[in-house]
Amino acid sequence: MTNATDSTRQPLAALGVASAEAVAERFAELRAAFDGEAAGASAGAESAKMLRDSWMGRKSGVLTLITDNWLKSAGPALRPAVGKCLNELRGHVEQRLEELQRAGEAAAENAAAARERVDLSLPGVTRPLGSRHLLRQTFADIERIFLSLGFAVVEGPEIETPYYNFEALNIPEHHPARDTMDTFYVDTPPGPISSKGAQRLLRTHTSPMQIHTMEKQPAPVRIIVPGKVYRRDNPDATHSYMFHQVEGLAVDTDITFCEFKGTVEYFVREFLGPKIKTRLRPSYFPFTEPSVEIDASCFVCGGSGCRLCKQSGWIELFGAGMVDPAVYGFVNYDAKQLSGYAFGLGVDRLSQLKYGIEDVQLFFQNDVRFLRQFP
Ligand code: DAH
Repeated sequence: MTNATDSTRQPLAALGVASAEAVAERFAELRAAFDGEAAGASAGAESAKMLRDSWMGRKSGVLTLITDNWLKSAGPALRPAVGKCLNELRGHVEQRLEELQRAGEAAAENAAAARERVDLSLPGVTRPLGSRHLLRQTFADIERIFLSLGFAVVEGPEIETPYYNFEALNIPEHHPARDTMDTFYVDTPPGPISSKGAQRLLRTHTSPMQIHTMEKQPAPVRIIVPGKVYRRDNPDATHSYMFHQVEGLAVDTDITFCEFKGTVEYFVREFLGPKIKTRLRPSYFPFTEPSVEIDASCFVCGGSGCRLCKQSGWIELFGAGMVDPAVYGFVNYDAKQLSGYAFGLGVDRLSQLKYGIEDVQLFFQNDVRFLRQFP
C-alpha cells in the first residue's frame, strides 16, 4: 500500500480534506498510484488479477474503502464531489484493468502461436524412393520382347516331381545330364501328396513347365515361363543355389528351324542392341534335337577380342533347340504333325552380361549401394 491508498482507510475529515479541490487532489493522487501499479504489473493473468483484487476487491479493495470511509462519511457539501471523483476513478480503473487483461490474453495467444508455429524452412521427412530390383527389370525386359512376338507368360510350381523335372524331358534316371542338375529334395508332410509316392524336389530349371503346358492344352503353344530355379551349387561369382530362368516353348504345325533362328536373333538384338550378331553353336540337351548354344558377338569389344569374351569375340548366352520328338511322346502330341523349338534363358547371367556385373551374389545381398545403381 502506498500513502495515497493508505489514506482511504480514514475518513476525509481526519485527513483534513474539506473542499472539492482537496477531494479532487486526493483522487488525482490515487489515480497516479493506480497508474503506477498498473504500469508495473507485468502482462499476464496473474498480476492483472492481483491488481483487480487490491483495487476492486469487494471487502477491502481501494474503491470499497473509498466508498466506506470517504463517501459515506462525507458531509452533504463534499459528497457530490467525492461521488463524481469516485465514479471517474472506478471508470478509469475498470478500463485499465480491462486493457491489461486483454494484453495478457494477446501475449498468451502470441506465445502459443510461436510455440505451435510450423517452420517451413525445416527439412521434411524424406522417404527414399525404391526401385525394382535389377533382376525384375531384366525379367520385364525379356517378357516385353516375347509378348510383342505373341508369346504368353505362364508360371509354374517351384516344387516338382522328378517326372516333370527329368523323365518327361527325356532325362531318364541314371542319365548323365542329371549330374549337372543335382538339387534339393523335399520331405513332404504325411497326407494326400506323399501318399502319391513320388519324391518332391526343387526344380532345377523352368523346363518342367513345357510338359505341364503341353499336358494341359493342344498345340499351338507359344509360352515363356519366368521363375526361380534351384541347384545344389556352392555360391561363387557365377553360381548360386537359387537363380532365375525364363523358359520358352513354341509348338505348332509348321514351325521350322528358320523361324526358331529368326526369333532367337530378334530377341538378342532387342535385348542387347541392334548391332549384335548371333551365332548358333551345336550343343546337347536331352529334350531338344538338334540343340544349340546361342552366342552373341561381344558387345564390349565388338568382336575383336577382350577380357569379357576371353579374346574369342563371342559370348555364350543361352541354350536352345528344336523340341525332341521324344518329348511329344510324354504329352500325347503327334510328333508327325507338330514341330517346335524351346530355349532356356539364364536371367542372372543375362543381367550380369548386359550390366557388367561380375559377381552374381550382388543380386542377393540386398546392398542398397548396389541396388541404387539401377533405378
Ligand atoms: N533347362 C536348361 C538348363 O537349365 C536350359 C535349356 C536349354 C532350356 C535348352 C531349353 C532348351 O528349353 O531348349 O540348363
